Amino acid sequence: MEGYERLLEWLRNIFTLTITCRQWGDSGKGKIVDLLAYIWAEIIIRGTGGGNAGHTMVINGKTYIMHLIPCGILHDKENKINAIGRGVAFDPSIACSELDILDKENISYQKLMIALNAKLVLPQHLVMDRIEESDSDSGKIGTTGRGMGPVYSDHVKRIGLIVNDLLNPDVLARKLERNLKPKIRLLKTYDPVIVSSIMDHPHLKNGLYHHPKNVFDVDAIIYQYGEYAKRLEPFIRDVDAFVRQNVGKTRTLLEGAQGDLLSINKGTYPFVTPSDSTITGLADGAGLDSTKQVDENIGIMKAFYITRVGEGPFPTEIGGKRSDEWCNSKGANRQVEIDLYPQASVNSIDEYLQGIGIRQVGGEYGATTERPRRCGWFDDPLTNYVIPMSGPHVILTKLDVLNQCKTIKICTAYRYVGPRFKYGQQVLNPGDIIKVAIPNSEVLQHCQPIYQEFPGWECDLKGVTSINDLPTKFRDILDFVVKETKIKPLALSIGKEREDNIFL
Ligand code: IMP
Ligand code: MG
Repeated sequence: MEGYERLLEWLRNIFTLTITCRQWGDSGKGKIVDLLAYIWAEIIIRGTGGGNAGHTMVINGKTYIMHLIPCGILHDKENKINAIGRGVAFDPSIACSELDILDKENISYQKLMIALNAKLVLPQHLVMDRIEESDSDSGKIGTTGRGMGPVYSDHVKRIGLIVNDLLNPDVLARKLERNLKPKIRLLKTYDPVIVSSIMDHPHLKNGLYHHPKNVFDVDAIIYQYGEYAKRLEPFIRDVDAFVRQNVGKTRTLLEGAQGDLLSINKGTYPFVTPSDSTITGLADGAGLDSTKQVDENIGIMKAFYITRVGEGPFPTEIGGKRSDEWCNSKGANRQVEIDLYPQASVNSIDEYLQGIGIRQVGGEYGATTERPRRCGWFDDPLTNYVIPMSGPHVILTKLDVLNQCKTIKICTAYRYVGPRFKYGQQVLNPGDIIKVAIPNSEVLQHCQPIYQEFPGWECDLKGVTSINDLPTKFRDILDFVVKETKIKPLALSIGKEREDNIFL
């Protein structure tokens, strides 16, 4: 791997580093966490999200997808410690499936730690998440159906369970009863057709996650969770205390999930995930006592296109509403799309087809749900919103996806086209120009992108290891984005493999 010494040099005096995404997730954090675990980190801690995340690594042609276990796990054999922090919504069924995969691949996980105070996902959380999504009165968010909303809201309601409850069956039983009673009452208020269709979903029916008989039956859950406990007990630790002992002394990488724009606090609410996926949430969820303990932050960003999964405003979406509707329609997935639109290309004149073409080249299908990810152009206003909040240092990823694209568009501003809208003391009127995105869905849904067009570089970037060898047309776009958004790229990722990077 050429040039990574420059990144190591940048990391020279750093002990605690965060990796988070500056967009709506799926920017390639998995690859970068694996890379940094390989060259730098001694401890890797996941701090936010849960089974909703899908972190992909490609090593020697082999793809590994992790939902819960940190992406430093391939380095467990080098005695590096991977930990799941207190902020994570921990589903023991997903964790056990991931351990099965690691066993099958002969990958060691001796040093894995699971925070005793991570939030415990129960079968009912998955069911309630899906019922709320199917109930037309609740308003659709397009969740991943992994129970995130219900588990974090149980936590806030103070009726949640924690991983440590797995170790004490009496406590587990008592807390379960307390947790389930109101859910069973609530369940009766939902349309029975919706409820049974969710129970019949293959994820439950075939026991892929949880068996339907376990959902509301305390004894069945106690038995099933007892089985998980037998397997997971050796890894359950006081991660907070471990972090406190090591902070500022051991090179620690905090692995974020989702992205800044999906943060419950700072994202495009309500179309967000229920945890704080920014640095602040990550630092807390990984077990730090203060965000001040973080020495540096690296943001991961796709360029020069971006993606979003699920519902919510997306000003630069290629193919607009039609793309949104298709990506969020039932049954849409990679194969269906390839069969339906074999002619789609990154250069299709029809924007709807062009969006599909980019998605196909980029492999933009959910690592967790297989849903097509909505694709759009790189968005300066959104970047201008997140960079002052999360810091300028970034690694740009997936740059090879647009290798063959003839024209690349960069959104430099929005034209507001909605009704007069008060945003605090600011009043928005139709026709206003917005340079820094307002993370309010009422505004964002009425923002039309203003583009600057650039000729594409139209060649393969494979094998390029130095910025000086990049095509001029590529450099022009990069320089433009850097100037407009004040990002400071540390590296460019130009392929899936650990080695496919240009260090700057
Ligand atoms: P939830 O996190 O499953 O509740 O989903 C809430 C929203 O966040 C939905 O729009 C999801 O598509 C989105 N989301 C959750 N996790 C991810 C992720 O890892 N990548 C991209 N989008 C995500
Ligand atoms: Mg992902």
